[in-house]
Amino acid sequence: MIKVTDIAYARFRSPDLDEMEAFLECFGLFRSARTDTALYMRATDEDHHVHVTELGDPAFIGPAFYAASEADLEAFSQVDGVSAVEDIDEPGCGKRVRITDPDGFEVEVVHGIERLERLPTNNSFKTNSGDDVRREGDLVRLDKGPARCKRVGHIVLNVTDFKASDAFYGSHFGFVHSDECVNEEGETIFAFNRIDGGKRFVDHHTLLTVPMEEAGLGHLAYEVEDVNAVHIGHEYLKSKGYHHSWGIGRHILGSQIFDYWFDPLGFRVEHWTDGDILNEDIPMGKTPAATALDVQWGTGPETRLAKIP
Ligand SMILES: [Fe+2]
Repeated sequence: MIKVTDIAYARFRSPDLDEMEAFLECFGLFRSARTDTALYMRATDEDHHVHVTELGDPAFIGPAFYAASEADLEAFSQVDGVSAVEDIDEPGCGKRVRITDPDGFEVEVVHGIERLERLPTNNSFKTNSGDDVRREGDLVRLDKGPARCKRVGHIVLNVTDFKASDAFYGSHFGFVHSDECVNEEGETIFAFNRIDGGKRFVDHHTLLTVPMEEAGLGHLAYEVEDVNAVHIGHEYLKSKGYHHSWGIGRHILGSQIFDYWFDPLGFRVEHWTDGDILNEDIPMGKTPAATALDVQWGTGPETRLAKIP
């Protein structure tokens, strides 16, 4: 077992890379590289890419996670079912191993991919929050346009056997439960997973596996600057005629302010901001599954699973 340090990207296939790139630019990502057969999009942080689309029939292929070191890749390659360490023959290079998860998603673990200069952010203002006054003399004036994504934050996988997937991701990659969601018998039926950062504070969840009849991508989530960015991004995607999925609202578990959209293939992507960060000192939560996906404010989960119109 290794402890992955973060999600790196997710990999898709599409017959129309132009269409995907046009959407992702409106969503707030930037072209990092494009070849004849694939598109690599980045966010404003240093990661070379946070979204990969290969040319092909529409598909979600799987997530990629960062290993802490090349030594971890070598150690992990000895595990049953894991590929040998291979050079990544793609822009950004680096090394990786691959393993197939219980639903057939191809999971990559990567290390040494090129890091890039950060891109400029915009619309960054301190907030005045009750007695915590941080913005003295600075006026909020916001630029319209795409909400620039900072980084990829988490992925939700729809899985056909929660226990098998939970064991797979926990035992291979070191994920730990931040919150368990239980049925009326007290049995855990899904769980929010964070990376095991020990004392270091990390996102409340990097991975969520949700039991469903059909396996697939639940959604892929990108952090944006703040609540202004969530709204400005929403208005921009709406003005471009893209299909909205769910939001704007504030989750209970993880506390993110969220807004979900459909990409041109019908896969959900999320803008979020202001999520909870936890470390090993924060006790795991247990929540009734029936209310786990309710909101603290905003649009409720009734339309959470609706398909693209
Ligand atoms: Fe999410």
